[in-house]
Amino acid sequence: MENKSIIIIDYGSQYTQLIARRIRENKTYCEIFPYDVSLEKIKNHNPIGVILSGGPNSVTKSFDNTLLKYFIMSDIPILGICFGMQAICKEFGGTVVESQKREYGSAIFKINEMDPLFHGINNSFEVWMSHGDSVTIVPNEFKLIGSTGENNISAIKHKSKLIYGLQFHPEVTHTEDKGKIIENYVNNICNSKNEWSIKNIVSSSIQSIQDEVKNESVILGLSGGVDSSVAAAIINKAIGSQLTCIFVNNGLLRLNEEEQVKNAFRSFKGIKIKFVNAEKIFLDNLKGVVDPEQKRKIIGNTFIDVFQNEAEKIKDARWLGQGTIYPDVIESAAESSSAHLIKSHHNVGGLPENMKLKLIEPLRKLFKDEVRLLGKEIGLSEEIINRHPFPGPGLGVRILGEVKSEFADILREADNIYISMIREAKLYDKISQAFSVFIPSKTVGVTGDGRVYSYIIALRAVGTEDFMTAKPFRFPNGFIEDVATRIINEVPNISRVCYDISSKPPATIEWE
Ligand code: XMP
Repeated sequence: MENKSIIIIDYGSQYTQLIARRIRENKTYCEIFPYDVSLEKIKNHNPIGVILSGGPNSVTKSFDNTLLKYFIMSDIPILGICFGMQAICKEFGGTVVESQKREYGSAIFKINEMDPLFHGINNSFEVWMSHGDSVTIVPNEFKLIGSTGENNISAIKHKSKLIYGLQFHPEVTHTEDKGKIIENYVNNICNSKNEWSIKNIVSSSIQSIQDEVKNESVILGLSGGVDSSVAAAIINKAIGSQLTCIFVNNGLLRLNEEEQVKNAFRSFKGIKIKFVNAEKIFLDNLKGVVDPEQKRKIIGNTFIDVFQNEAEKIKDARWLGQGTIYPDVIESAAESSSAHLIKSHHNVGGLPENMKLKLIEPLRKLFKDEVRLLGKEIGLSEEIINRHPFPGPGLGVRILGEVKSEFADILREADNIYISMIREAKLYDKISQAFSVFIPSKTVGVTGDGRVYSYIIALRAVGTEDFMTAKPFRFPNGFIEDVATRIINEVPNISRVCYDISSKPPATIEWE
């Protein structure tokens, strides 16, 4: 796969991952490298094309041109976007000036000269701009192929080489080219054979797991979430009973979670799942603790103890399987130069070092939507694949303050009613994340002839693209009232239900 990929050199653009996804949507493997990646690594990769991303810096200050010189010398097709275009201009002797003001938002782009990059696109269309510096003089070896506004230089091409620069962002949907520019770059300029497909990913993943693991054993912490489930499923397909999954019930799971996991893996031949009931240990460790971060730490550390204890019972385990996905790898790499970190909020973080296990991470090159497609391809149910995210500390951060087993039972019942009603109303896939929160304050109510004095449940549902910002979901009229009525009627010790209408920011998605 390596020598059929397009690579992105990331100069810190907020859109870098989006460019990678757009390329993969065109059935071409794409990998992101930080701008300070070694030339050796790039040479070994042998890409069919390269994209220089945008970024917050100015080429007028400093720019290390080692990589760019190599790409030019090797005649690898280059597309510079925003900062990337400015870097190309600087390298070829054009003029880039620092602007006082950032140009941000949409502009009308006009094609000045037809080019394979623009096949199938209207002569003029809306594009998305986000830049500070501008190119004011096109280098001699280049020509202008597109402009915005009053002849602003917005698209350039080398006169004899496959080197392009775009001042706008073709990867965002606000640019109204219907994805054609990236598609043309991948197919017409880089001549991709379009071999990156889910079927190929399945077969090459199975092959590489078999080659790596050989006849040794693998253990994997299975949570019932999408990533660990898909990782377990693909490792099972590759090495069958050499894999043992460990499912830890920490007392903070949703209703029937264990059953759902059993059902999801029923059709997987020879899968070994060890169910460990550690409810008491977790709840004992959490006794009297009210601070959310402290609760998170206790739950994480207890998980490590329980998992390690169980893992030691599995003879000859040499590998730890993990559901690390590509955004985790990129985010970890952005924080340190080592890309092989385990995400810090991941429950099994810290295990490998203690246990001297080698890591097997079959999803580490995939985006979430690709992980879902892969899961579907190998036979996991849509119910598991399309599940809303569930935090590692589970109900531990949805029971405000001290966690008690009776609170967890109440919350599980209420949440099950809420989520089932959302599913019945066919709203589940329209919502990014929905859940209930237990508020350990008592309020007065009347049921039948009697006065009750019981707890509160808050309902939360949000819509979001990336979980960094989120908006409360607007349910159809009457829906929340119906949920509230059922919860109050059916769940003992609840006298009141509220709906959380806070956006993120300033609120977060979880309450703790
Ligand atoms: P917040 O509450 O920060 O949540 O807006 C953003 C997303 O992250 C999830 N989340 C967690 N996931 N461990 C996890 O594995 C955690 O401690 C944790 N806290 C929040 C949250 O459910 C949402 O999807």
